[in-house]
Order: sequence, then structure tokens, then C-alpha cells
Amino acid sequence: MSTPRKRVGVLISGRGSNMAALIKAAKDDDYPAEIALVLSNRPDAAGLDHAGEAGIATAVVDHKPFGKDREAFERALDATLRAHDIEIVCLAGFMRLLTPWFVETWAGRMINIHPALLPSFKGLDTHARAIESGVKLHGATVHYVTSDMDAGPIIMQGAVPVLSTDDENALAARVLGVEHQLYPQALALIASGRTRIEDGRVVVSETTETPAALIWPV
Ligand code: GAR
Repeated sequence: MSTPRKRVGVLISGRGSNMAALIKAAKDDDYPAEIALVLSNRPDAAGLDHAGEAGIATAVVDHKPFGKDREAFERALDATLRAHDIEIVCLAGFMRLLTPWFVETWAGRMINIHPALLPSFKGLDTHARAIESGVKLHGATVHYVTSDMDAGPIIMQGAVPVLSTDDENALAARVLGVEHQLYPQALALIASGRTRIEDGRVVVSETTETPAALIWPV
């Protein structure tokens, strides 16, 4: 009998293009995870419509009625995730800071995608800051979520060149393309149990062929 697929909850706040990439990947029966729930903190998140159309269960836990009580908001999130038997949480453009309580509750079972090659450019406005800094390679990172923002163990990264003609939008679009490839691959890696964390670093038990270096400009 084949191993049961891990039940994944995707947390979104907006467009949900990474969520859509995860849904698409999980359509394959051989993919080791199924998207069992899409959960938004914003009732108007565009991603909810896409998830509904794809036949995925959706839920909204609006943060606004909870005011400043972030933990009460997160207890509602947690209850919703548990009600759907979620085993792995993927943050996909979920724009709420999480308290240590929620992070601890889901430690080792919650991952995030960040639009930069961490540990460079934590936080917001990553593309503008990358251009400003003059780096020649930029990209995206999937990492485990810990209490320190954008600082948890790195699972996988994808890089893109920064062109001298790039503005923030052009670079964001190029990075988004790599995000859509990266997130499904990173989720597959952890859902299939091929990673472990050692000394704060993610170790992948099976490695594939080593790719050629990405050097830019050429
Ligand atoms: C993505 O670029 C994601 O990396 C970023 O928000 C965007 C969401 O787009 N996440 C963060 O900045 C988290 N700090 P999407 O809703 O189309 O997936």
C-alpha cells in the first residue's frame, strides 16, 4: 500500500499564486501531499476563489475582530487547521506576524516561502532592496518557520539573475516564476520525509545530481 499523502493547509492573505502552484503540483497522485485546506485571514483574498474552483476546502479566519489579541486570532487559526486534520502548514503570502505560541505549536511542521535568498533581505520590499544593493543573483527561499522572522532552517532556494534593466516589478515577476517551481518541490521534499534538521540546518537524505553553477552576468 502506498504511503498516505500528508494533509497540507495553505495560509494566504492575497493573490495566492504560490498556493495555486501547490494545488497544481498536488493534483498528481504521486505527489506526497494533498492540499486539504486553504485558509485566509482576509475574506477578500483572491486566492480563495481559485482554491474553491479547484475543489479545495476553504476557510476564513478574519484577524480584524480579534483586534490586538493576536494569540486569540491564532487559536482560531489553530482550531480550524486541527478541524481539517492538517499535518503541514504552508505559509504562502500570509502577511501576519505569528506569535511564539503558534510557531511553537507548529514547530517542524510549518514552512514559508520568502522572496529573497535568505539570510539576505529578510522582511519586506526585498526586490527593491536587492536592486539597490547591486547583487547580481536574487531569488526565493523555502524555510521552516521559527520565532525569528525569516530566519528558520532553509529547505531549498532558487536563484535568478538581476538584470541591469530591472525595476522592482520586473525582478519580482522573475522571482515569482522561480517561487512557483520551488515551493512544490520543497513541500514534496519534507512531505516525503526526506529531510531532517541537524544543528539548525536542514539535511536532505537523498541528493540528486549536482547542477552546474549559476554565474551571472556571463
Ligand atoms: C510571494 O512573492 C511570497 O514570496 C511573498 O508574498 C508573495 C505572495 O504572492 N511572501 C512574503 O513576502 C512573506 N514575507 P502569492 O499570494 O501570489 O503567492
